[in-house]
Amino acid sequence: EQNTSVCEVLRGKRVVITAGPTYEEIDPVRFIGNHSTGLMGIEIADALSRAGAQVDLVLGPSHLKPQCSNVIVHSVKSALEMLDEAEKYFESADIAIMSAAVADYRPKLVSSEKIKREKTTEMSIELVANPDIAATLGQKKSAGQFVVGFALETAKNAVEEAKRKIVSKNLDAIVLNTLADEGAGFGGTTNKVTIIEKNGVQHPYPLKSKRQVAEDLVSFIAETLK
Ligand code: CTP
Ligand code: CA
Repeated sequence: EQNTSVCEVLRGKRVVITAGPTYEEIDPVRFIGNHSTGLMGIEIADALSRAGAQVDLVLGPSHLKPQCSNVIVHSVKSALEMLDEAEKYFESADIAIMSAAVADYRPKLVSSEKIKREKTTEMSIELVANPDIAATLGQKKSAGQFVVGFALETAKNAVEEAKRKIVSKNLDAIVLNTLADEGAGFGGTTNKVTIIEKNGVQHPYPLKSKRQVAEDLVSFIAETLK
């Protein structure tokens, strides 16, 4: 019953999803990255594909891949590459889901040679800000497009921070997960989230497998777009 209506809303819809970490090159053998596995975004891609959507998954470096062969994977490394690909598929997309753990900064200069160990006690790398992919798509969003972000917060004012990100990135909803919750966030196969709509309405969910969290998000999107 519920699955039928989810499929009715999502069949043929075009979705672009960002997932995984980004790797920001320092030199030919080193990078700045993070612990994202990409699993949450990959589960969302599979769940939407099962519901009949056409999914473009822009995936940073990850050992995982979607099970559904009809999810189109576009592999990228850096935030700049991820932005390029995401913008490309956003043009014709109905829905965008920004689940990637994008590096906020990248090295200002990328050394073409491996950096040598100098006989100094300290070294530093100058960083510059990466573009905000979610905010870029949010600003470009046209009337029919629905953009969902993620927020990983460790602070006590997590809900306020998530709401601030809805506004600053012009999102329609955000999926908040807090590292303070046991079993939520990076690395694991479970997650505990609250979906917050742009009107402030909160939908808290219990701790679930990332697959089930993906199903909940897909149901929420279908319910909202119907
Ligand atoms: N995001 C993005 N591009 C970036 C940084 C973040 O698309 N350069 C997206 C993430 O994919 C996520 C949302 O923005 O959907 C929130 O990411 P988060 O790191 O929580 O927010 P930031 O705006 O980077 O703020 P901060 O890290 O300072 O909390
Ligand atoms: Ca960030």
